[in-house]
Amino acid sequence: MNIIIADNAGFCFGVKRAIDISLQELETSNNNIYSLGPLIHNAQAVELLKMKGLDIIENPEKVNKGKIIIRSHGIPMDIDNKIKKSNLEMIDCTCPYVKSIHKKVGDYYKQGYHIVIIGDPNHPEIIGINGWCNNTAYIINSEEDAIRLADMDKICIVSQTTNTQEKFNSLSKMVQNKGKEVIIFNTICNATNLRQETCKEISKKVNAMIVIGGYHSSNTNKLVEISKKYCKNVFHVETYKDLPLQELLKFNTIGITAGASTPDWIIKEVVETMDNLNNNEMMEAIENSFTRIHRGDIIKGKVIFVTN
Ligand code: F3S
Repeated sequence: MNIIIADNAGFCFGVKRAIDISLQELETSNNNIYSLGPLIHNAQAVELLKMKGLDIIENPEKVNKGKIIIRSHGIPMDIDNKIKKSNLEMIDCTCPYVKSIHKKVGDYYKQGYHIVIIGDPNHPEIIGINGWCNNTAYIINSEEDAIRLADMDKICIVSQTTNTQEKFNSLSKMVQNKGKEVIIFNTICNATNLRQETCKEISKKVNAMIVIGGYHSSNTNKLVEISKKYCKNVFHVETYKDLPLQELLKFNTIGITAGASTPDWIIKEVVETMDNLNNNEMMEAIENSFTRIHRGDIIKGKVIFVTN
């Protein structure tokens, strides 16, 4: 069995930054550290942070002292203002890429543009972005939504950072016909692009794909969607315990990728489990691949790791 591990699998810059800052805060402060909503869409990582003392709250008004961590998805402007006026100290871990979307949306809203966001209306990132244009954005997530949009004079289009290019291209094209003056910002994050592109390339080459990540993680689900397009056998697992080992034994070449909110230790456990499964068909590992995926210490030359 050959195993191909995707380059760019696991934590993206924004998630890693949020986790690092939070861990630092948890180490240096005694108590009263909260995150507004789960820090990332990964149940195992959230559980770990909880054990280290991070309390999750949904409403900042429920607490009146301590520090409140804003996750990488960001928050709407009114909540941002409320926290700044409260006794709480805000630790803002909003991803800088998401912040830049807040700014674009706010600027163009002030200039009289109607804001159209291509994304999931229930996702915290989208709820946050909408809050920077006074919650007036048209949020579209399908062709039907785009068709339903009324004609407008000036439109500014932005995207959820984890959208697929394909979806963004087709929906933004449809919206373009609805306005006289249309400005399009493709705000899909580069980390998303890289993960999706690598996932696509690997999916084309393998008999089965394993996608590791939270079942509620938007970016992980996009990787599952892409994998299914190019590969017949796709397994979405949260941890190594979800691997259907007997079934996996049937395949010659298996690809592994992981969402941007999947911790390295979870990826490591999946890779180790697959490595053990593969024990009888060992092949020399490619050293360079190890260093690129930062997992050289956990894989000891038993599987072929090709990154693209
Ligand atoms: Fe930021 Fe991109 Fe990750 S927007 S949170 S680096 S997917």
